[in-house]
This record gives sequence, structure tokens and C-alpha cells, in this order.
Amino acid sequence: MKLKKRLSFLLTSLVTLSLSFNVYASPISFDQKVISKISTKKMMENLKYLSVDIGPKVASSPEEKKAAEFIISEFEKQHYDVEVQEFNYENNVGYLKVLQPETMDLHIQVTKGSPLTPEGGVTSEVIDCGFGSKEEFTDKVTGKIALVKVSEKTTSMYRTILLNAEEAGAIAVIIQNDDWRRLSISSSVTSKIPFATLNNEAGEMLLKEGITVNFQVNRYDTSQNIIATRKPHKNKDSGNIVIVSAHYDSVPTAPGASDNISGVVSLLELSRIFSSFPIDTEVRFVAFGSEEVGLVGSRYYVSQLSQDEKDRIIGNFNMDMVGTAGEKQTTLFVNVTDGQDNLVSKTARATAERLGYADVIKAPFMRGASDHVSFWEAGIDSANFIWRDPVTVELEPWYHQPYDTIDRISVERLRTATEIVGVSVYDVIRKDTPNLHKSKNARERLDFYLINEDTNMESDF
Ligand code: BES
Ligand code: ZN
Repeated sequence: MKLKKRLSFLLTSLVTLSLSFNVYASPISFDQKVISKISTKKMMENLKYLSVDIGPKVASSPEEKKAAEFIISEFEKQHYDVEVQEFNYENNVGYLKVLQPETMDLHIQVTKGSPLTPEGGVTSEVIDCGFGSKEEFTDKVTGKIALVKVSEKTTSMYRTILLNAEEAGAIAVIIQNDDWRRLSISSSVTSKIPFATLNNEAGEMLLKEGITVNFQVNRYDTSQNIIATRKPHKNKDSGNIVIVSAHYDSVPTAPGASDNISGVVSLLELSRIFSSFPIDTEVRFVAFGSEEVGLVGSRYYVSQLSQDEKDRIIGNFNMDMVGTAGEKQTTLFVNVTDGQDNLVSKTARATAERLGYADVIKAPFMRGASDHVSFWEAGIDSANFIWRDPVTVELEPWYHQPYDTIDRISVERLRTATEIVGVSVYDVIRKDTPNLHKSKNARERLDFYLINEDTNMESDF
């Protein structure tokens, strides 16, 4: 009797053990391991610092560097080896600060055609010079900053205004228009005096009594990528490398809460989570600078990779605009440059299906550029994760606008995107990857997904 009891106990223990082992080996439990660690609180704190406290982070600017410092210190706190990869990018950055009656930063746009202001900028009251005709530039503007409206947004009109201002002895010209995005003056418009553009609302404000401003056009010439690397133990190394990335620069005037601090805080959350998970694949978390000026940071990064590294990188998961609260941006797109499914998009889709987010992910779609394109250009599988309108594929109305701010971020969407990318990355880098997935060759792994496209992924584990 006693023996029987013992046997049955042994049997029950064995069954329990094997059951729990099975549960542990199923993808769902690996997924859960990632999901349960995601903290939106930390992400929102980081988002506040990087978008509200720092504000716009134009390529090569001191603000972009300040954001870089923060990202470096976060990666270091997570015990990563951090590399700061500097590269050259010359950029003119403009600042317009109201000093009196109250201090306030205004959003302006400058081009390469403007000369720089002297050290510390120019400071004066603002003189209303109407539409910038010769007669409207009166003596009053000599030695002062002129404000003009434009009646015609043409290159020759801008040239005329600037010449008139110069003749009248103005020290700088601020050109006002109805929409700052459409005022970007061609950089072929040059002048002897510094100039910038700003929107109507800010222009009206400058005409109030007793206003003094400081105007600066500064040139900066370096930007940087921040790379945090974690290598697997040498006895458990698949030889593969996975890159998770997001750009941290913004366009002028945009705090970039959605584009793309959302991606950065998600990146920092995933690096935090994966800093202690068992992996058999090297993972690099890369925050790119200077994306908004033409993918400059990521192209530089790819250009510095050795052939061996390029061969070993099996995928790039890029996050750009992963947290918008836009009413219509309800679908997380996996954007693939050539429209062809690859390791990254396939893994993400399998993840979304497992997590029950099948209706959130749409088929890969071609349009728009982000840093994933730089990897694609080098023949590396890559995709960008981005919330879009499923019908029109449009981005949110505040895309590249001064009101791309923290109050237009959805914590829920930020979490969903982080879950999908995080679970997908873990599916590729984890140590206990089921054998079918294990392959030095990314293509073989992709074939596995392609062959099993219509089958329930879970049944293969
Ligand atoms: N985050 C945006 C937009 C974007 C990303 C659109 C991914 C579609 C997919 C990105 O920062 C951006 O504005 N990209 C520019 C191109 C870039 C090379 C200046 C764009 O798509 O117009
Ligand atoms: Zn972006």
C-alpha cells in the first residue's frame, strides 16, 4: 500500500513536471515573460524628459546631444556596453527666444542659406515691416530685427525681401507665414543678414508692445548613434546578430513625442528587459541620430559594419512612431521597404497572431522612410513598426508639427507596440529557441515561417 502510494506520488510528480515543462517550452510562456516585464510608467517618465524637458532635437544640435546623454546613461544603468558613434553632419539650427516681457521659446525654421549670427545671437526689439517692400523698411529698422509677412511664397519674393532688409540696415529678418512647414525657403536663397521663418500665430505675438527677442542661427557639425550591445555566452552563441533601433532626433519645432521619442522609450524598455534574459544571439539596441535629415545616422552605422557583421545580422526591428493617440491610427503597420515579407515582418506577424493582435497588424506596406531602409539597402532583412490609418495609411495630423507632444501619446498603443516588437525580438534571440527556429542562416528560418504560413504556429512547438 505504502509503495503504491509512493509510486502514484512519483507518477503525479512526473506528470506535473512534464506538464510544467511543456508549458514552459510553449511560445506563450516565453511571450508572457516579456509582456509581464513591460512598465509603461518608466516609458512615460522617459518620454516626458526627452520630449517635454528637452523639446525639439534637431540633427547635430546641442538638444540632440542632451538626448543622447540621457540615452547613454539609461543604457549604462542597465549594464550594457555602450558605444557612442560620432559622425559628421553640418546643420544650421535656429533659436528665437522672447526675453521680455516673459521668456518664451518660439519655433522657427532656418536654412543653410542663412548666414550665422554672431556668438550669443542678436538681441533687439522686433520691427513690423509689413510685407517687406522697400517703403515698409523704414529707418526704424536700422540695427534691429525685422518682421515681415510674405504675399507670395516664391524664391524671388524671399530674395527681394532680404535685399530690402539688408539695404535698410536690419540685423536679421524673421519671415512670417501661415504654415511653417510650407515656408521652408529653398537653400538657394542666400543673404548677408541672418533670417528664419515662423508661423502666423508666433508672428502676431512678436508684434505686441515691449517685446525683446534673442535670435540665433548656429552651425553644428556632429551627430551621434548610441549603441548598446549584449553578447550571448560563447558556449551558447548562434553567431547571429539582431538589431533593435529607433531614431531620437526630431524635425525643427517638433518636440517629437510620437516621432520618435515613442520609439526611443520603447527601445529603452526592451533593452532594460533583455539585459537579464538568457540569449543565444547578440542583440544591439541602437538609437540613431539625424534620421530626419535623410537617414544619415543609420546609413553611417551600416557603412561602418564589417562584411562579417553584415552577414551575421539576421534582422533589424526599427520603431518609428509607435505611440500615437491619433484617432484614426489604429493599425500597427509592419513597414517593409520592398513590400516583400522577410524575417522581421514574418516574426512580427506570427507574434501578433499568438498574442491575439492579428487585427492590429496589417500586411507589409511600402511607403515612407525610416532607418530600416538603410539596412534593407545593405541586403539585411528589416521592417519599421508604425501606427497608421488602416484605410488611408495616413499618419497622425501632428506628424512633424510643434504639437507632436506628450498629451497626444497613447499609453495603450505604446504598450501594444512594445509587446509586439519585444516578443518578436525575444523569439529570435532567446536561448531556448525551439530547434526548428535554430539556424545560422536567416533565410532557412524565414523559409520555416513561409512554409508554415497558414498553419497555427503553436502546433509546431
Ligand atoms: N517617422 C517619420 C515618418 C515615417 C517613418 C513614415 C516610417 C513612414 C514610415 C520619419 O522620421 C520621416 O519623417 N521620414 C521621412 C523621410 C526621411 C528620409 C526624411 C518621410 O517618410 O518623409
Ligand atoms: Zn521619424
